[in-house]
This record gives sequence, structure tokens and C-alpha cells, in this order.
Amino acid sequence: MSAPVTSVKFGDNSLDLPVKSGSVGPSVIDIGKLYAQSGMFTYDPGFTSTAACESKITYIDGDEGILLYRGFPIEQLAEHGDFLETCYLLLYGELPTAAQKADFDYRVTRHTMVHDQMQRFFQGFRRDAHPMAVMVAAVGALSAFYHDSTDITDETQRMVASMRMIAKVPTLAAMAFKYSIGQPFVYPLNSLDYTSNFLRMCFAVPAEEYQVNKVLSRALDRIFILHADHEQNASTSTVRLAGSSGANPFACIAAGIACLWGPAHGGANEAALKMLEEIGHVENIPKYIAKAKDKNDPFRLMGFGHRVYKNYDPRAKIMQKTTHEVLAELGVKDDPLLDIAIELERIALHDEYFIEKKLYPNVDFYSGITLKAMGFPTTMFTVLFALARTVGWIAQWKEMIEDPSQKIGRPRQLYTGSARREYSPMAQRR
Ligand code: SDX
Repeated sequence: MSAPVTSVKFGDNSLDLPVKSGSVGPSVIDIGKLYAQSGMFTYDPGFTSTAACESKITYIDGDEGILLYRGFPIEQLAEHGDFLETCYLLLYGELPTAAQKADFDYRVTRHTMVHDQMQRFFQGFRRDAHPMAVMVAAVGALSAFYHDSTDITDETQRMVASMRMIAKVPTLAAMAFKYSIGQPFVYPLNSLDYTSNFLRMCFAVPAEEYQVNKVLSRALDRIFILHADHEQNASTSTVRLAGSSGANPFACIAAGIACLWGPAHGGANEAALKMLEEIGHVENIPKYIAKAKDKNDPFRLMGFGHRVYKNYDPRAKIMQKTTHEVLAELGVKDDPLLDIAIELERIALHDEYFIEKKLYPNVDFYSGITLKAMGFPTTMFTVLFALARTVGWIAQWKEMIEDPSQKIGRPRQLYTGSARREYSPMAQRR
């Protein structure tokens, strides 16, 4: 049976282009030979209709609100597993056996310390530096320390770099937080699980014993699972493009952190909480809904809308449930910001504008309320997103490097600037 093709007509010519189908989801038109055979490019700023790669890691059905990591529904992974199990799944493609999980936990745990000279990088920042600025620098700096795990052609070194990234980003994130509040750094404690270790590095002080709250640790671990990977989003595409040149993997992850920082992407959790604080009271919601609908007002409901989800983001549902769990554990009876968020969601989901544009809460809408209740400042919210997404970035980076058809990413353009013109001497310019 011949491979399926689709014909593209341009002028008096037509060109047959192969169609490739995946295991689930939309098929693709392979336009690799389009320019050579037609002299034309496709044009798709923002890549709204463009598949940049083939991947086996994560699948999203935006219309149905489905998210699968290696085929497993996010709801089941969040309910039954822990974050390191999800890390193993994303990296290796299968759920670990008990022995594989114990070995993976052991290996990650024993890479959690960073070179002690890393502390000097933090001293160079003002205390009020945004922790995301610090993370871009600190993770990028790791590329100067691990020359024994940056030969990306060596599978062992790729896995060692991956383990180091997953293990050390929480330590650097905690150091960024401690530095911002003027408290001493807390070293990792190998007797604790991944997320309990992170909480202790953030909230323990030398002056007293720190007891990890198991309910909060489990909730944060689940939040990390929700944020672990998400197909070819902006920051993952940044990591892939940086990695396609053969750049140092730590530097590629730093590039992903930089991209995630933007308020349209991972920075939305910080922006959403600030928006709820600005709204201040449920009676102000209609004014902000009107602003969000006003084409002349740049204001958008942060934590709402998504490039892919045109239905409820499945992560937002689990996030909302986790928010109630955390507030209950902390004895917070009524959080005014949660009241505003729930009322804002209720109004928006019944408003014609949001219904017509299929705008639903996304993963960032409720996460800020939960993280604030846990004691994290808003500036740390995107750092926590980056901590969780590191495994997704590194899994996607490995998949790209190990793809035999991989080549450096080099998009083309539609040029609308000046055609050739001659240089004019300064004296003749008016
Ligand atoms: C993340 O890609 C990923 O998977 C990202 C992520 C991940 O896990 O990696 O899921 C994480 O980044 C979630 C998204 C977080 N960002 C926000 O919550 C910021 C607020 N949302 C918007 O900025 C927007 O919805 C985006 C950026 C998320 C998506 O934008 P798109 O796909 O480019 O859609 P668009 O901007 O073209 O919007 C379509 C229409 C526009 O109206 P029209 O021009 O068609 O008239 O919907 C409107 C927009 O004005 N719109 C909104 C809106 N989001 C879109 N109007 C009001 N409030 C909003 N939040």
C-alpha cells in the first residue's frame, strides 16, 4: 500500500507531500521537501499548526482535556505515584518496578548536593533579585562544573547529566529562596524523599528542628507531577532548539528556565496570584472580566486560556482539589483569594466571550493560592514550575539528541524588509 500523500497546488503546479500518522492525535504533512520542490516556505508564526518534531513522551488532547505521560493519564499518575516515579517514566518510557524505583530514588538522592563553590554565585546577586533570574544563572553555571557529563554523544553521560539536573535543581531553587530571605542555605538530607527534602531545604532553619508536614509534602509532590512535561510548549521548544546545536545540556535547561519565566507561560502562576490580589474582592470581578474582554485593554485573565486546551486543563482540576486539601491541612477556613478565584471561574465559564473562545482555567490558575498557603512568596512560584519541568525538558532534550534524524533547528522567514539598495555617504543623507 503506497504511503498517503496530500497535494499542494501553487500556480499551475501541484506537489504531492507525504502524510505521516502518529499513534494518536492529528496526522502531519511532511513538508521537508517543499522548499526544494516549490521554492516556497510555509508560514506559521507561533507554530499554531506546526509539528516541530516526532515525540513519544507526552500527548495532549486539547479538545477533550486529556494529558498522557508515556500513555498514562495524568490523573492516575498524580493519584497513585510520586514525582520521582513520573521522572523515571518520562526518562525511560515505562513505569519502574519496585527495584528500579528504589535504584532511581537512590541515584537522584545522591546527586542532590551542588559544588560548594556554587554558593559564591548567589553572593553576587542583590537580595531582592527575582529568583528566576538567579535560577537562569545558577543552572547555567552548572555547565561550568560537570565536564565529565557533557559529551552528549555518550549515552551514559547524557543520563548522568539528566540525573544531576533532576537532583540539583531543587537544591539550587531552595538556595535561591533562602538567599532572597537572608537565611542560611540548608544542605539536602538524604534520609528524606525528594519533595520533603526540598521543603526542608526551603523552610528549615539552623535554630530549630524542622518537621516535614507529610500532607503538604504529598501535595507539593503531586503539583510537581502535574508540571513535569507538556509536549512542545515554548520552554521545551527552547530547550530542544538550544540542544539541537549540541550545546551543553545544563546551558540548554537554563535557556528553558529563561523562556518559562514569561507571564504568558510559566510566569502566569505568579501573575495569576497578583491578579487575584489586585481584584481584591468578588464584587470587583465584573470590572476585570470586562477588561479581559476589551480588545483595547491588554489585560488578560492570568491562569485562563491555553494554546492547546480548548477544554478544562486536566491539571487545573487536580490543582483545585489539592488547593482545598492544603488549605484544610493548614486550617485556613476561607481564603479570600480562593473565594475570588472560584467566583471568577464561575462567572467566566458562563460568559459568552470565554465560552466562544474556549477559555478555561489552566494549571496556573489555582497553583499560586496553594503555593502561597504553603509559605512560598509569589516570586518563587515559577521557580517551582521550573523545578518540576526540568525532567520534561531533559527527557525531551534526550529524545531529540537520540533521534537519528536530528539536525540543528534553523527556521526560515517571510522577508518584508528592504530589497538591495546602495550605501549612501553621510553627507548625502537627509
Ligand atoms: C502555560 O504551552 C503549554 O503547554 C504551556 C503550559 C505548560 O505546561 O507548559 O501549559 C503552561 O504556559 C499555561 C498558560 C499560562 N498563561 C496564562 O495563563 C496567561 C493568560 N493566557 C493567555 O495569555 C493565552 O491564553 C495563552 C498565551 C495561554 C494562549 O494564547 P494563544 O494560544 O496564543 O491564544 P490567543 O492569544 O490567540 O487567544 C485567542 C483569543 C484572543 O482573542 P481574539 O484575538 O481571537 O479576539 O482568546 C483571547 C485572546 O485575546 N484570550 C484571552 C485570554 N487568553 C486568550 N482573553 C482574556 N484572557 C485570557 N487569559
